Amino acid sequence: MNLKEHIRNVKDFPKQGIMFRDITTLLKNPEAMKYTSEKLLDFAKGLNVDKVVGIESRGFIFGSILSEKLNAGFIPVRKPGKLPAEKEQATYQLEYGTDTLEIHKDAIVPGDNVLIHDDLLATGGTMEAVCKMIEKLGGNVVQISFIIELSFLKGRDKLKNYDVRSIVEYD
Ligand code: PRP
Ligand code: ADE
Repeated sequence: MNLKEHIRNVKDFPKQGIMFRDITTLLKNPEAMKYTSEKLLDFAKGLNVDKVVGIESRGFIFGSILSEKLNAGFIPVRKPGKLPAEKEQATYQLEYGTDTLEIHKDAIVPGDNVLIHDDLLATGGTMEAVCKMIEKLGGNVVQISFIIELSFLKGRDKLKNYDVRSIVEYD
């Protein structure tokens, strides 16, 4: 299957000059959903994954599918102020300004093998911040997977120490 045929390209969203890669068209197609989850599962074959971490919000969709298939727990990383219990926090650089993400401190047990999933790799700032939080809690990041990689933004350069996988790339 050519997954790009199921990803909608929206010009100038959310602002001028951005080509938005919209996965809602992929999500509404059951064959494309199945293909995507099987690919992500294939990447994780042979890894002994204890927890799958999904990043709000688009990372929750396949992150939870993957966790069920891997017989692993699912851990949400959320935007600030959403998680109720004791939290670890990471603040990272955006093009203009900063952003923050949170995870529950008791989500990861030291020594856990953790697979982190998000829908899309752009600059890599989000994923780099999440890796640092997981490692601070004692987790081993065994794989990082994405559906889409915007390779021209070189997000992989920030994630050199990890096993980074993606299904489709845009240059
Ligand atoms: C998008 C995407 C990744 C992040 C990638 O999320 O889903 O999480 O940006 O960017 P980076 O590699 O430059 O850090 P967004 O903040 O748009 O949130 P959403 O999933 O809630 O729409
Ligand atoms: N997140 C960051 N850049 C994006 C893009 N071009 N399309 C969809 N999500 C994004």
